[in-house]
Amino acid sequence: MVASSGSARDGWSSRTAFILAAIGSAVGLGNLWRFPAEAGQNGGGAFVLFYIFCVIFIGLPVLLSETLLGRHGQASAPESVRRMAAESNALSAFMIVSFYCVVGGWVLYYVYVFAGDLVTTGLAGGAFEGRDRAEIEGILPGLFGSARLMITGHLVFFAITMFFVMRGVSQGIEWVATWLMPAFFVLLVGITLYGLTSGAGMETLTYLFSFDFTKLTPQVMLAAVGQAFFSLSLGVAGMITYGSYAGRDINLGRTSGIIASADTAVALIAGLCIFPIVFAAIAAGATDLSVEGCPGLRFAALPGGLQAMPCGAFIGLVFFIMVGFAALTSSVALLEVPTSWVMERFETSRMVSTLGVGLSAALLGIFAALSFNEWSDVRPLAFVPIFAEANVFDALDGVTAKIFMPLGAILTCVFVGWVAEPRLVDTENGLNGWLHQLWRALVRYVCPLVLIVITFFGLFG
Ligand code: PHE
Repeated sequence: MVASSGSARDGWSSRTAFILAAIGSAVGLGNLWRFPAEAGQNGGGAFVLFYIFCVIFIGLPVLLSETLLGRHGQASAPESVRRMAAESNALSAFMIVSFYCVVGGWVLYYVYVFAGDLVTTGLAGGAFEGRDRAEIEGILPGLFGSARLMITGHLVFFAITMFFVMRGVSQGIEWVATWLMPAFFVLLVGITLYGLTSGAGMETLTYLFSFDFTKLTPQVMLAAVGQAFFSLSLGVAGMITYGSYAGRDINLGRTSGIIASADTAVALIAGLCIFPIVFAAIAAGATDLSVEGCPGLRFAALPGGLQAMPCGAFIGLVFFIMVGFAALTSSVALLEVPTSWVMERFETSRMVSTLGVGLSAALLGIFAALSFNEWSDVRPLAFVPIFAEANVFDALDGVTAKIFMPLGAILTCVFVGWVAEPRLVDTENGLNGWLHQLWRALVRYVCPLVLIVITFFGLFG
């Protein structure tokens, strides 16, 4: 059962472990924090529909290509092909994990705040009982404004991530996924039912599923593609790396379908889970809040919304623990990409590689954490029109999702569709008949072309 290529290479202990780890990589802050934020900023329903389109026709074929590339690399057949794709992508994963752990730090801070509140308020009432609105709305600005808190949260989350990556594939990464992902699903379903019944359920459904196609500009389309890649962990060799630990007995076609469906379901459920609480907060008179607002606002809305809802403190605590679980299974995947690349490239031990890569990425993350306070005026990409207003954090996020990830995916498509020997990638994709033909056509023609067009017009249109 153990996935190995004859050497002592570490790998997943079973098919279920691979699926859970891959879903764990895909499901993360991208679903819970970025998806609702992007949907809010890009007009709701039309974005959501186009997003689903991107997942099916671009994300899914690329996902299968990445896992295939990974597994073939392991058999060392087109090793050079795999290596090129992996190298160009490891840098993006490095950049993403740096700011990802900053957001992970916010999550830890909220766990801390809600745990404290549960102790003082107790189980039954709303969260933050008796505290006035200004104070509650001040929680997030208070966190953002403090460089010390932001950096501490970031470093703690990074340290936890490094701990599991250091332990290796089957002992660390797989352990996190097999324990935390099932727990995550149970919590998500529970909280969503709670939100829809206690919060603004109808308003949410109308918002997320009414389509206004005039809102579908090239920028919105690029945002949707970028979000699809971010959420499915594509274009940064994440799935190439995880695929390389997969055994030959795994049907990659079917597995990719499962991963993409689970990830999309979680994004949609997360929308259903978070927007009712946001709308409830707005209805309860939250100033300064709008669904279009800045990404951090998702978190800012929750305490206010939960104040008006039963068992608020408890639900808040459980909610952020759940977000933390999802974030950790993804940050571990992100750090694994550059770590395993350095291990192979420089033949270092896992320990040395994790430390070297991790500490450098954590350092870059400190600058991202400072974007919200000391460095709020720094605009690293002022010369690029669509990133002119971006601080370090937004620049890292924007450049990776809107340029590097689509580019990485184009490279993968070109390799799998045109360069790699068809015999190698075709015989083992687990697809038959027309499905196989469709996948082949999507990877060779449709995905690269659509990606080039959308990226070009999204950036310059
Ligand atoms: N897909 C993860 C999320 O949605 C982020 C991620 C990107 C993880 C790329 C690994 C590789 O949060």
